[in-house]
Amino acid sequence: MKLFIDTANIAKVEEISAWGILDGVTTNPSLVAKEEGADFKETVINMCGLVNEVSAQITATEFPEMKAQADVYSSWHKNVVVKVPMTVEGLKTLNYCSSKGIHTNTTLVFSVPQAIMAAKSGATMISPFVGRLDDLGMDGMDLIADIMEAWNHYKFETQVLVASIRNLEHVVRAATLGAHICTIPYDVFLELPQHDLTDKGLKKFMEDWESISN
Ligand code: E4P
Repeated sequence: MKLFIDTANIAKVEEISAWGILDGVTTNPSLVAKEEGADFKETVINMCGLVNEVSAQITATEFPEMKAQADVYSSWHKNVVVKVPMTVEGLKTLNYCSSKGIHTNTTLVFSVPQAIMAAKSGATMISPFVGRLDDLGMDGMDLIADIMEAWNHYKFETQVLVASIRNLEHVVRAATLGAHICTIPYDVFLELPQHDLTDKGLKKFMEDWESISN
C-alpha cells in the first residue's frame, strides 16, 4: 500500500519523507492557495526530489488547453503526475496522457461509473473522495468497497487512491479493502505511528531498565 501526503506545504513533505515511508504527494488548487507566496512550479519540483509521485492539478477545463497544461507539467520532472478532473474533457485528456506515457491522477471521482470511465481512459490513478461523501451523510468508504469489488472482476491497471481522508478509520478501512494508495492530511499522518499501549509499554521498559542499570 502506498502512502501519500495531501498537502502543498514543502516543509510538511520534508518532515514526513524523513520517516522513510512516504511514496508521494497530492496537491490541489485549494491546498496551493493556502501556501501564499510559494511558487507552484518550484514547490512541485522540490517535492519531486523527495518522493516518487507528485500530483499537480491542471486548471484548464477544455481539452486543447488541458492537454497543453499536461505537457507543461509533465516536462517539469519525471515524478510529476498530472491531476485531471473527472469530466468528459478530462477523459479526453487522460486518453491523450496515456498515449504519451504521462502519468495521471483522476480527481473528483464520486461514483463507480466515473471510476470505470477514468480507468478505461488510461488513468494511472483515480481519486474517489470519501470525506466529501461522509459530509453529505453517506459512507464514503462504501464507494471504495464498490470500486474494489468491480476492480476484482476486471484487469484495470488503474490504482485506487483514497482521497479526502479525514481520520485514521478511513486509512484502516482503505487498507482492509485493498485500496492501492491513501493520500493523508498532515494531522492524520502524525497519528499513524501512535498507540497509547506503545507509549505505556515503552515507559515501563525504560523504568525497568533504569532500575537495573543504576
Ligand atoms: C486529494 O487529491 C484531494 O484533492 C483531497 O484529498 C481533497 O480533500 P478534501 O475533501 O479534504 O478537500
